[in-house]
Amino acid sequence: MKSVRTLCFLLVSAIFAHADNNVPTIANDFVFTFFNSHNTSPLSDALLLAIVSNNNNGTANIIVTSSYLSFTTIRVSVAPYSVLKIPITPESIQAQFPGNVTADGHIIVEDKGIRLQSDLPVAVYAHAEAYGGYSTDSFLVLPAIHLGMQYVAVTSTQPEGTIANMIAVVAYQDNTQVKIGTQTVTLNALQVASVASYGNLSGTVISGNKPFGAISGCTCGFGNPHEGCSYEAVMLLPGSGWGTQFAAIPLMYLSTNWYQVVANTNNTIVSAEGTTVATINAGEYREFQIGAALVTSNNPVQLIQIGQVSFK
Ligand SMILES: *[C@@H]1O[C@H](CO)[C@@H](O)[C@H](O)[C@H]1NC(C)=O
Ligand SMILES: *[C@@H]1O[C@H](CO)[C@@H](O)[C@H](O)[C@H]1NC(C)=O
Ligand SMILES: *[C@@H]1O[C@H](CO)[C@@H](O)[C@H](O)[C@H]1NC(C)=O
Ligand SMILES: *[C@@H]1O[C@H](CO)[C@@H](O)[C@H](O)[C@H]1NC(C)=O
Repeated sequence: MKSVRTLCFLLVSAIFAHADNNVPTIANDFVFTFFNSHNTSPLSDALLLAIVSNNNNGTANIIVTSSYLSFTTIRVSVAPYSVLKIPITPESIQAQFPGNVTADGHIIVEDKGIRLQSDLPVAVYAHAEAYGGYSTDSFLVLPAIHLGMQYVAVTSTQPEGTIANMIAVVAYQDNTQVKIGTQTVTLNALQVASVASYGNLSGTVISGNKPFGAISGCTCGFGNPHEGCSYEAVMLLPGSGWGTQFAAIPLMYLSTNWYQVVANTNNTIVSAEGTTVATINAGEYREFQIGAALVTSNNPVQLIQIGQVSFK
């Protein structure tokens, strides 16, 4: 069977991952949003999940709220040392849903932010799939306390035809001024501003005057080789959380993977095992393919593992 693996997730910098006093993924408060995962009109087979991992010796009591009018507040408990999948409905909670995306690059503001709070510290993933699971991705939700005020988008370099790349930002506080590229908008808490474009949005700078969350990717991006598209989404790391050392590990069953890197400093040189794989300026991006490697850079970068198409 042919299966498409175009998983896209953050590689947390090795510096981050190995710092004893800094565990940025476990917390009590999260905000996020889903952007449109359908490249055609709604299909009613979208599955949206908030996946909560409770690694405590005690029950975590969770409350999920949203500014979306037809969303009903969810209260659930997650047993000690276990993972719970919380369905998020209705599927129209996705930014720029249904698939009537004009993709003209203009900001659209919607009340579609989601907030998840827990009485014990937990880790949260946001998962979306369409077409019965054929187009799927999950992203790690950054804790609200680690949200920043400056991000650089990473989207598919192979958007095709009428399949949009997207950036969606979610405000954490009222009166958050956000600038996406050259457009500015003011949001209240849990409002979402999104843009969709058939062009490349990688390298787009997103900034604000208060901490906010930013998610980017593609409604259905192609991998390499160019076979079948898949939903791709990642919650971006703020510039302050970027690193200069990463452990690049191919996804299971593969010996190489594609990566995309963005920088916010000119003359940034990215190397894998000592060989230069990209030289980029602020606001630029590059894609490269490597095997298992230690990736280093002379200035902080955001490195995204895109994955690779595999045939099994
Ligand atoms: C977990 O909590 C229970 C009840 O509070 C306690 O009896 C037990 O020793 C705890 N286990 C660990 C591994 O901390
Ligand atoms: C989406 O497009 C279809 C077909 O053009 C139309 O029937 C439908 O009303 C549109 N939905 C929205 C929300 O604009
Ligand atoms: C997006 O960028 C890639 C390479 O960076 C290029 O090959 C492709 O033509 C671009 N697509 C669009 C729609 O600009
Ligand atoms: C980075 O390089 C670009 C293009 O060469 C230049 O326009 C820009 O001013 C430079 N930015 C900085 C911060 O030096």
